[in-house]
Amino acid sequence: MTHTLPSPSSLAQQFVLDPDVVYLNHGSFGACPRAVLDAQSAHRERIERDAMRFYIYDLWGDIDRSRSALGGLINADAEDLVFVSNATSGVANVIANIDLRPGDQVITTRFEYPACNNNLRRACEQAGAELVVVDLPWNPIDEESVLSAIMDRVTDRTRLVMFSLITSATAIRMPAERLINELHERGVETLLDAAHGPGCVPMDIKAWNPTYCTGNAHKWLCSAKGCAFLYVHKDKQDGFRPVILSNDAYDMEPAIARSDRSAFNHEFDYMGTDDRTPMLVVADAVETLGSFSEGGIAELMRRNLAMCLEARDLLCDAMGTAPMVPDSMLGPLATIEVPAPGMDPRTLRERLMEEFRIEAMIVPNPGGDTPMIRVSPQVYNSIEQYRYCADAIRSIIGLS
Ligand SMILES: Cc1ncc(COP(=O)(O)O)c(C=O)c1O
Repeated sequence: MTHTLPSPSSLAQQFVLDPDVVYLNHGSFGACPRAVLDAQSAHRERIERDAMRFYIYDLWGDIDRSRSALGGLINADAEDLVFVSNATSGVANVIANIDLRPGDQVITTRFEYPACNNNLRRACEQAGAELVVVDLPWNPIDEESVLSAIMDRVTDRTRLVMFSLITSATAIRMPAERLINELHERGVETLLDAAHGPGCVPMDIKAWNPTYCTGNAHKWLCSAKGCAFLYVHKDKQDGFRPVILSNDAYDMEPAIARSDRSAFNHEFDYMGTDDRTPMLVVADAVETLGSFSEGGIAELMRRNLAMCLEARDLLCDAMGTAPMVPDSMLGPLATIEVPAPGMDPRTLRERLMEEFRIEAMIVPNPGGDTPMIRVSPQVYNSIEQYRYCADAIRSIIGLS
C-alpha cells in the first residue's frame, strides 16, 4: 500500500530528516539541523588539525561559550553549569555525590525515566538507603494531587527528591517551582530532571532554585547527540566531583589557576579524551534554533505548544477519547489514548511505520490496557502530518 505523505513545515528543509518518513517523535531523540551538524563538523576538523592545541588550550574557552549561551537560555549563572553526555549521566553524577547512609530515603515517582530511576536504585541499594517510588495519580491528574502525593511521602530521613520537569512517556508538566519550594521548606534537596527542558519550555533556574538540575541539549534545543547540562547550586559545588576523575583530581590548585575556573567547572570540562563537539555546538544550536523565528526560541516554544494542543485535540476527536492531562500541565508533548484495548504499543508503532511511514512514539497507558500516542511537535512538523497520523491509526484499529 502506498500513501501520499503529507508535507512537513517549510522549516523541515533546515533538517536532514528522511523525506520518506513522517517524523512525529521529536521527544525521544530530537533532530539536529544541518547548520548545527555543519558547525559540529567544523569544530571536529579544527580539533583534528591540532588536537594538542585543542585539549590543552582551546577547549576551556570553547566550552565557556556554550556554557554562557545555555545559561542565558535557562537563566542560570554560566559557572553553575557543566556539561555531561546526557540527562541519565547528569542524574548518575548527582546521586554519586550524595553521601547516602543506611536508612536514608530518596524519593522518585513511577513516571520518571527508567534509566534515571535505575541509577537512584543502584545507589540506594549500595548504601542501604530506601528508594521510595511515589504512585503519582493518572487520569484524572491535577497539580494539587501531584504535590500531595509527593509531599505526603517526605520524612525526616528524606535526602533527595527527583522529579521531571516533563515526564517521559506520560508527558506531564510537573509543578516544578511549587514542588521545589515546598521540599526546600522541609529541608529536602531536589533533583530536577529537565531532559525535556532547554528549548522545550521556558526555564528559570534562578527563580526555581533547585539543588540540582540536569537537562538535555540534544532534544528540544536540537543540538548534536551527546550533550546535557548539569546545574549544581553554588552551595553544593565545593567537593561535587564527576564520576570519572581525570588527571588533575589530586592536584587541583595549579590546574584551576591555569584554566581559570572553579574546580567544579574544571573537572567536568575535561574528563579524559573524548568527543567534545556535542558540548561545543550548544552555542551554535542556541543561535540556529533562535534564527528559525523572528521571536527567537521563546516564540518557537509557544508555537510548538500551540501545535501540540491542536494535534492532541484532533487526535482525541479522531479516537473518540478525552484529553488525559489538563492543558495547564502540558508542554509541547501530550499523550492521547488509542481505543484499542489489548493492543501491544509496539505493534501499533511498527504498523504505523510499515504501512504509513510514520515514526511515532506509542506508549502503554498506565491507567488501562490501551496504547497511547505521544505527540511532541517541533518546528519541522505540520498539522497535516497529525491528520494523516489520525487517519492511519483509525484505519489500523478499524475505526470507520
Ligand atoms: C524525562 C526524561 N529523563 C531522562 C531522559 C534520558 O535522556 P538521555 O537518554 O539523554 O539520558 C529522558 C529521555 O527521553 C526523559 O524523557
